[in-house]
Amino acid sequence: MAEHLYRITVLISFIIAFVVVVTLPASIVAISDWDDVSGFESYDSDLLFRQDYSPPAPPPPPPHPPSASCQDDLGGVGSLDTTCKVVSSLNLTRNVYVAGKGNFYILPNVTVNCSFVVGCEFGVNVSGNFSLGENAQIVVGSFELVAMNAVFAEGSVVNTTGLAGDPPEQTSGTPQGVDGSGGGYGGRGAACVVDDKQDPDDVWGGDAYAWSSFLRPLNYGSRGGTTSKEVDYGGGGGGKIMVVVNATVEMNGRLLAVGGDGSPRGGGGSGGSIYINAYKMTGSGIISACGGNGFGGGGGGRIATDVFSRHEDPKIFVHGGNSLGCPSNAGAAGTFYDAVPRSLIVDNLNMSTDTDTLFMEFPYQPLLTSIFIRNCAKAAVPLLWSRVQVQGQISLLDGAILSFGLAHYSLSEFEVLAEELLMSNSIIKASYYFIQF
Ligand SMILES: *[C@@H]1O[C@H](CO)[C@@H](O)[C@H](O)[C@H]1NC(C)=O
Ligand SMILES: *[C@@H]1O[C@H](CO)[C@@H](O)[C@H](O)[C@H]1NC(C)=O
Ligand SMILES: *[C@@H]1O[C@H](CO)[C@@H](O)[C@H](O)[C@H]1NC(C)=O
Ligand SMILES: *[C@@H]1O[C@H](CO)[C@@H](O)[C@H](O)[C@H]1NC(C)=O
Ligand SMILES: *[C@@H]1O[C@H](CO)[C@@H](O)[C@H](O)[C@H]1NC(C)=O
Ligand SMILES: *[C@@H]1O[C@H](CO)[C@@H](O)[C@H](O)[C@H]1NC(C)=O
Ligand SMILES: *[C@@H]1O[C@H](CO)[C@@H](O)[C@H](O)[C@H]1NC(C)=O
Ligand SMILES: *[C@@H]1O[C@H](CO)[C@@H](O)[C@H](O)[C@H]1NC(C)=O
Repeated sequence: MAEHLYRITVLISFIIAFVVVVTLPASIVAISDWDDVSGFESYDSDLLFRQDYSPPAPPPPPPHPPSASCQDDLGGVGSLDTTCKVVSSLNLTRNVYVAGKGNFYILPNVTVNCSFVVGCEFGVNVSGNFSLGENAQIVVGSFELVAMNAVFAEGSVVNTTGLAGDPPEQTSGTPQGVDGSGGGYGGRGAACVVDDKQDPDDVWGGDAYAWSSFLRPLNYGSRGGTTSKEVDYGGGGGGKIMVVVNATVEMNGRLLAVGGDGSPRGGGGSGGSIYINAYKMTGSGIISACGGNGFGGGGGGRIATDVFSRHEDPKIFVHGGNSLGCPSNAGAAGTFYDAVPRSLIVDNLNMSTDTDTLFMEFPYQPLLTSIFIRNCAKAAVPLLWSRVQVQGQISLLDGAILSFGLAHYSLSEFEVLAEELLMSNSIIKASYYFIQF
């Protein structure tokens, strides 16, 4: 075998299959500063695998428990086979599943609170309509809704902020040590403690995971790190919210799967997951799976919408959390996938960061139509998964950075395949070189 005959190849192969449109000062830089070839000797495939771990598809969920009863379990009025109304606030002390052929309404000002139980799940599957009244709240780790129509009235909120259950096994979304770094999921958490020898671009807190689920995210976010050996000051991960509605979602409230706050002595939790599938969505509410604020900000989570008729509202956010310990390095943006145009959007709301949102393997069938990296988001395509291919446009706008290769571990060539590359005040970096054998 010729395994010792390493052939060292230096390559930066942009496949020029796109038209470059530069509308503002922009630069494409290839930095040849590989001065630490010894890094190659410490190449460790286990480490790589762990860092970029995307868990396998989870097993099918266990069958649902029997439905709770409208009157006995929920203190409601009516029946789930006609119309059940929850008329007064209640504290749940276990997971609850509500199913029936009728409508399910949570009336205005009512709070359904299950934050007593870690990762508490509240499921609703009704053939009729669902509504969450004005200023009503659902406070849980996981909320899953299946209904014909759904209304989230003004002032209402489904709040899973900081209430995540466990993230998938083998992922490293919660940072090790006592640096108070942010948790990771859709984007990496920020790390504020960086020693002189390290490149800030090469340091992060909790890692990203579950890339393959960006099309239909279903994982919990992760806790932030702490600054103390004794007390865990990290913010909790964002929970998860799934809304599957046959017809219309009227979204005037808020769906929150935000990372919990860790400030000032712990890292922010990473944002969780939100998935919405409907024919139509209206309203001017807010849908957010942002990272939590903390000493190091949490990374954003993942949101996907598959809505045939969706307008610019409601507002959707997946940016990283603020880093109190290093304000110029917020948590990395998470991912927002819009299934109807097949667009991936990575947007950090102009919060500057050195921390990456990782891109792994892109789906081939069908290809994504476009990728937008914008408002100070920083995306990286690490080794092994080095091709970024879309059918239409890759847009880097307003302080975006797209970089290829990871320090010390780079091992691949990379390709950008698109019809058009649109850059405005943004950078593509190809910083490292790879060794092939
Ligand atoms: C729920 O629990 C909280 C805190 O323990 C308590 O203040 C509140 O009154 C309870 N609400 C109901 C409806 O029992
Ligand atoms: C909800 O509460 C607000 C303020 O406490 C009150 O003004 C309003 O009338 C209540 N709404 C309903 C429908 O009870
Ligand atoms: C839900 O219950 C928790 C635990 O008692 C309490 O801290 C929190 O304030 C409650 N949330 C709401 C919105 O009532
Ligand atoms: C909702 O209920 C229907 C019929 O009761 C069932 O077929 C479906 O699988 C359920 N959906 C989910 C997501 O549990
Ligand atoms: C559900 O809501 C839609 C739209 O508001 C309405 O037309 C329909 O009658 C409602 N269904 C039931 C069972 O109340
Ligand atoms: C959601 O929950 C978080 C954490 O408990 C809380 O800080 C926040 O105010 C809540 N948001 C809303 C809109 O209720
Ligand atoms: C879903 O809604 C459409 C109209 O929006 C209706 O034609 C269809 O029958 C509904 N499907 C189910 C399973 O109720
Ligand atoms: C981010 O900055 C850009 C350019 O400076 C500006 O056009 C855009 O409106 C800002 N976006 C937000 C969400 O603040």
